[in-house]
Amino acid sequence: MASNSWKSKVISNVLSYLDYKTGKFIIVKSKRVGSLYRVIQLSIIGYLVGYVFLSKKSYQTEESIQSAVMTKLKGVAVTNTSESGRMVWGPVDYVIPPQGEAVFSIVTNFIETPNQKLGNCAESPNVPDGHCKGDEDCAEGELVEAGHGVRTGRCLRDNGKSNGMCEIYSWCPVERSCKPQGRHKHKNMLTEAENFTIYIKNVIRFPKFSFSKANVQDTADKFHLKKCHYDEALEPYCPIFRLGDIVNRTGHSFQDMALMGGSIGILIEWKCDLDRDLSECQPRYNFTRIDINVSRESSGLNFRHARYYKTESGEIYRTQFKVYGIRINIMVHGKAGKFCIIPTVINIGSGLACIGGGAWFCDCIILYLMKNREFYKHWKFETLKKKDSNTRNIIEHHNSTTEDIKQTPEEQQLTDLSPEV
Ligand SMILES: *[C@@H]1O[C@H](CO)[C@@H](O)[C@H](O)[C@H]1NC(C)=O
Repeated sequence: MASNSWKSKVISNVLSYLDYKTGKFIIVKSKRVGSLYRVIQLSIIGYLVGYVFLSKKSYQTEESIQSAVMTKLKGVAVTNTSESGRMVWGPVDYVIPPQGEAVFSIVTNFIETPNQKLGNCAESPNVPDGHCKGDEDCAEGELVEAGHGVRTGRCLRDNGKSNGMCEIYSWCPVERSCKPQGRHKHKNMLTEAENFTIYIKNVIRFPKFSFSKANVQDTADKFHLKKCHYDEALEPYCPIFRLGDIVNRTGHSFQDMALMGGSIGILIEWKCDLDRDLSECQPRYNFTRIDINVSRESSGLNFRHARYYKTESGEIYRTQFKVYGIRINIMVHGKAGKFCIIPTVINIGSGLACIGGGAWFCDCIILYLMKNREFYKHWKFETLKKKDSNTRNIIEHHNSTTEDIKQTPEEQQLTDLSPEV
């Protein structure tokens, strides 16, 4: 018999899993808490629709950009120096490196040391380690620290002076170090560099959306590309930039920058909403000077390079250039978005969860901050206590919410509601 009653107990428990259980609501007639709840609800919905969906477009999946940049410069400058006479500078001469990369320097000013040959000469007076009082300071074979060559063992002194410079074996004569001349004496400067043009070709791709595009627009006018110059207002999609315009857009003077050199970043930004018309996917250009430092001394940009020649007898000599230039650094940023169901559902779900947070907040106010909180507590929480088994009927007829109490099947028989307070 005992096993029979045990069986029927199991069956009734299994069947009770098929009952549908639903929550019960307590309506609190407080207009203040009620309207607070509505305000919270509305602001969360507003945040969800306005910010998350419309502004941040979180119904889209995003992908970042793949891009390639090619550059080409045009323009010619003429300089007239005492060392080399009249010189013509084409893109081959002033673009370093010349391969058309996204990072390159344009020579705007230079100091040249022509006809350097390997031989013996005095070290430059600007090198501290090259100073000497006698031959013993110039041990043969030793290198001059931060200098230009290797010591020969002689100290070269002008007549009657106690200090001199060590003789070195090097490319002679060594560069006479001098600052670039001011703008009133700018015969070394490539002043025409202001009118040089940079053609920037930028092809981008979003492989996930199999979308690709270039910053060069197809127009009916084939010659448009040859004539146009970028202008933020008039020609925002023209890929040809005047160097002077680029420098001016960074807020610096071209003359100063051409004199001492500098570094400019060109940021090309692509923000593409592929749910819209694809012609709206257009690049935006941004120009900033990136070498400016706290101290004026350390700003600027220069480097040295040399051109090598051979005399008819086969002797090698070179011309060394210390060049000041504007380095252009083209960076491409961007992303594209397209509608996708998964982020949409996730964002709606998390928005609804936030509304649940609003209900929790209002509950806290009712239960802990309101004047008659004890009254609300009494109605919100009903405490269940274990009692005798013959009071089972009370549970079944009492409309209580028992969701916050976990009951094992045995306990179900033994519990009873006994409201406290
Ligand atoms: C740049 O070009 C303009 C017009 O073509 C010309 O007037 C100007 O003198 C040029 N500037 C320099 C520095 O050569």
